[in-house]
Amino acid sequence: MKNGYPKVYALKGGWREWERAEFPYEEKDSELPDIVQGCVDCHEKVTPFVVSEWKRSKHSTNMVSCLMCHGVEHMSDKDVDKAATVKPELCIMCHEAQGKQFAKGKHSKAWKAVQALPSAHWQPMAFIEGIKGCDSCHKIGFKEPKEIRELRKRGAGFGIASCDICHTRHSFSVEEALQPQTCRVCHRGFDQPMWEIYSSSKHGIRNALKREGTLPEDTRAPTCQDCHMKGGDHGVRTAWGFLAIRMPMPEDKAWAEARKTIMQSIGMLDPQGKPTERYKLIEELDLARLTQEDWQKERDKMAKTCLDCHPAVFVDQMFENGDRLVMEADLLLAEAIRIVSALYEDGLVAKPWNYPYDFPDFFAVHDAPTSIEQKLYLMFMKHRMGAFQGGFHFNPDYALWYGLLELQHSLEEIRALDGQLRTKKKRR
Ligand code: HEC
Ligand code: HEC
Ligand code: HEC
Ligand code: HEC
Ligand code: HEC
Ligand code: HEC
Ligand code: HEC
Ligand code: HEC
Repeated sequence: MKNGYPKVYALKGGWREWERAEFPYEEKDSELPDIVQGCVDCHEKVTPFVVSEWKRSKHSTNMVSCLMCHGVEHMSDKDVDKAATVKPELCIMCHEAQGKQFAKGKHSKAWKAVQALPSAHWQPMAFIEGIKGCDSCHKIGFKEPKEIRELRKRGAGFGIASCDICHTRHSFSVEEALQPQTCRVCHRGFDQPMWEIYSSSKHGIRNALKREGTLPEDTRAPTCQDCHMKGGDHGVRTAWGFLAIRMPMPEDKAWAEARKTIMQSIGMLDPQGKPTERYKLIEELDLARLTQEDWQKERDKMAKTCLDCHPAVFVDQMFENGDRLVMEADLLLAEAIRIVSALYEDGLVAKPWNYPYDFPDFFAVHDAPTSIEQKLYLMFMKHRMGAFQGGFHFNPDYALWYGLLELQHSLEEIRALDGQLRTKKKRR
């Protein structure tokens, strides 16, 4: 095999126990060994696209055959259930560098994050069963064999092996993985409209014009991958992350108070401001950067990326703007949380059974019963997210109109509803 890739990998036994094993046949330069030819001949009839895509892949030209990924236990149409299911660990055996990076990044944890969070189990079954709910995106990441079988049974169409989410089978192409649309499958919509934000930002538009051929091939137009997988690093991870929660607390007193309130609503801090069990879970799942060093490391890495194309003063200013948007959004959200929290305390809104404290629980608020709680949920999941995600991806429409302005509007509505509930009580 070329390029220093290991020569001697093949499946020995079923997929549960594949391991480094001797190559089971003599490698010839061009001819396929009989056993592989057998798979190809039959599969050209039963699944022709599998074979044509594989033939197009670098795997076929490097003797990475069907057997290496699927084993040798299934050899005919009578024993189909014996074909091995591919796990990321298999790809990683040959692609160690990408595997190590992947393991350090957030994608490797997406599956575990959703399984471990209590709220995933509070969703209506109609929503999480099959492959329509959280798992359709969160199936990326390391899983147990049992969970893989379960996913297949539920009809997961692609991406069980994780690595095949961006390098779709059987062409397993780098070219495909480099296109920003690859990320769009999951990074879009309600709470993280990254695709919508990016594709209508200056960066995304230039990239689209380049792809359609209006702008020449050497046009500078960063993709998601340029900024988030620089140098091909598979360990995606950012400073603020999805929740935009971090430690230590900021120096600004009002912002620090606001962040404390939000962390109480995420259930990380108790009413006294002490870390809870969930704080430990969040640390374990790497849902937030909890030290200055950890946060700064990611920030510096990202800033370096911009320096390829922009001057440092400009870049600093852009990050400052982004951080300020997080602050503005936090202040508005925290005020709304305190209003709802006081309504629980005063018994004017019944606190749902599964909320541990007199605080809304953002991990459980899908089933928040009243309209004031629903509004608060939208502030957290949709508008606060939009504000800073729009800010960091340089799309003012999301940052301001769909972000901050919506937050202000919702806060006003929550204040009004609070007023109504309190006057009603006085009258009684
Ligand atoms: C005589 C025909 C035949 C031969 C030879 C054959 N297969 Fe298959 N294989 C099938 C059929 C039929 C299916 C079921 C296809 C379907 O359901 O669309 C199948 C399914 C598969 C699947 C999917 C299994 C699943 O759980 O969905 C894999 C993977 C596979 N074959 C790999 C191989 C490999 C590797 C070889 C060579 C070692 C091979 N096949 C040889 C006929 C064959
Ligand atoms: C580099 C690893 C790799 C190689 C090489 C490979 N496959 Fe696959 N194959 C996969 C993965 C990953 C899946 C998806 C598994 C899943 O979703 O459970 C898959 C799925 C399949 C399926 C199920 C149909 C489908 O597309 O979902 C068939 C059939 C199949 N492979 C046959 C083959 C045959 C025949 C060859 C050789 C011509 C081959 N594979 C080579 C990794 C590989
Ligand atoms: C038996 C070893 C082996 C296994 C297992 C294996 N690969 Fe590969 N892979 C290779 C070799 C060899 C190449 C060609 C390397 C080259 O040309 O530099 C390659 C190339 C690639 C490329 C680069 C393709 C391109 O367009 O340049 C990707 C992406 C890739 N593999 C993904 C995967 C994925 C995903 C899996 C698991 C489903 C997998 N590989 C399993 C050995 C393997
Ligand atoms: C459309 C695809 C998609 C669906 C469906 C989806 N998620 Fe996500 N989820 C993502 C993406 C992408 C991220 C990372 C977003 C970011 O960082 O901006 C994410 C992030 C998260 C995070 C934060 C993880 C972290 O490390 O910060 C949690 C928790 C989460 N999702 C839970 C869920 C739950 C529970 C469901 C089902 C109710 C769900 N997700 C449904 C795509 C999805
Ligand atoms: C989120 C999308 C994504 C996932 C998931 C992913 N890759 Fe990649 N992969 C890419 C991109 C993008 C590139 C091209 C990087 C570059 O050249 O800048 C790449 C490149 C590669 C290459 C070619 C490296 C080279 O230098 O030629 C290999 C091999 C590879 N990936 C293997 C894997 C393996 C193994 C996994 C699973 C552990 C995996 N990939 C998961 C997006 C992904
Ligand atoms: C199969 C769905 C899926 C695809 C495709 C996908 N991602 Fe993700 N991504 C996720 C999920 C889910 C998370 C949240 C992981 C967690 O729970 O920790 C995530 C997290 C991330 C994060 C980390 C955010 C943070 O919290 O710091 C980055 C950055 C990221 N993805 C970038 C990309 C890029 C770039 C691509 C395309 C090359 C891509 N993703 C493709 C599902 C996906
Ligand atoms: C010009 C560079 C750039 C491009 C292009 C880019 N991003 Fe980002 N992304 C950033 C920056 C900067 C941040 C914020 C980093 C921080 O917290 O310091 C970020 C944050 C993120 C996060 C995590 C934080 C959050 O707000 O949830 C995800 C996930 C993400 N981007 C996905 C994507 C996807 C998907 C694309 C393409 C559709 C993309 N990004 C395009 C620079 C970029
Ligand atoms: C591959 C090169 C490249 C990278 C990397 C890149 N940009 Fe850009 N960026 C451009 C180009 C080209 C434009 C179009 C505007 C111009 O320069 O004329 C642009 C435009 C912008 C704009 C819009 C300015 C305006 O007036 O609306 C902002 C803001 C921006 N970039 C910030 C960043 C930040 C922050 C990063 C790093 C997270 C980054 N860019 C990474 C090339 C890049």
